[in-house]
Amino acid sequence: MTKILILYYSQSGQLSQIVKNFAKPFENSDNFSIHYANILPVKDYKFPWKGYNFFDAFPESVEHIPCELEPLDLGDENFDLIVFAYSVWYMSPSIPSNSFLLSDQAKRIFKGKPVITLLGVRNMWVVAQEYVKQKIDELGGKLIGNIVLRDRAENLTGIITISYFLFTGKKDRFLGFFPKPAISDEDIKGAEKYGEIVKKHIEHNNFDDLQHNLVKAKAVKINPYLATTENMAYNRVFTKWSKFMLKKGGPGNPARKTRVRIFACYFPFAILVIAPIEYIFFIIFAPFRLGKIKEQIRYYSSTENKANKQNLTQNAE
Ligand SMILES: Cc1cc2nc3c(=O)[nH]c(=O)nc-3n(C[C@H](O)[C@H](O)[C@H](O)COP(=O)(O)O)c2cc1C
Repeated sequence: MTKILILYYSQSGQLSQIVKNFAKPFENSDNFSIHYANILPVKDYKFPWKGYNFFDAFPESVEHIPCELEPLDLGDENFDLIVFAYSVWYMSPSIPSNSFLLSDQAKRIFKGKPVITLLGVRNMWVVAQEYVKQKIDELGGKLIGNIVLRDRAENLTGIITISYFLFTGKKDRFLGFFPKPAISDEDIKGAEKYGEIVKKHIEHNNFDDLQHNLVKAKAVKINPYLATTENMAYNRVFTKWSKFMLKKGGPGNPARKTRVRIFACYFPFAILVIAPIEYIFFIIFAPFRLGKIKEQIRYYSSTENKANKQNLTQNAE
């Protein structure tokens, strides 16, 4: 009997649906037992979001500052495989998911275990995944697979429709003509096929080419422009804003209201004005960066951890 732990936090229920579909092939077999562990913050993040709360979650997301979690009953805490399912908030794992990664319980359960990450996002996730890869390494786990379900809408359209979804909780067509927000029902249902692939690899007791087969089945798609923009935005802009806001205190602190509000005005400007300008530069310089772009696609499609590789090289020197 293979014991699988699925850890997840879903605010709107979208990621919960993905998790349930992914797990179907295991549910249909007597050779597997699944333990679903729903991460719950003591003070939950209300859905749909109120404008101020949405932007107030920014600094703690970006700086990976944990919140308090409800205790999670994981039985004997010994599993053969861990599926870490998470959503991305501001290019970081959602605060509740990150809080679990930083917990003592995580230190106990990840050690020596194979791990698969399963993401339900809009379209910017590579920076968050780099952080999660590093945390899994530090916890002694081994990342063997990565599956990313995303909104397939064009970037700006997706920003409009996800805002509609996050602020109203509705998944219908905004104004009657925009595409439906977030991850499509078809893709959510399709998570089952990735469960099938993982199941086959467990049955053959071989994870060597698991990620290769997942990528072949389109479990991960890298958009080099988004990956470049994300890295620049996170390192050059997000971390500066988050530190600026945190100087005025923690979440909900009235002292930081003005800074949160200034950020709330800046954020749409950055998305609607700066990002399209960056896109033009990306297209102009792309022909000179083809080698780098190809490597970016290869690396982000893999489960490799660049940071870990650098550490290994430094230690060997
Ligand atoms: C505060 C916040 C910030 C988000 N930031 C990102 C982001 O940087 N990149 C991205 O692809 N999706 C982002 N999303 C979308 C989420 O990753 C996710 O798809 C959506 O919230 C639904 O997840 P749920 O199942 O947890 O409700 C964000 C959502 C929220 C609420």
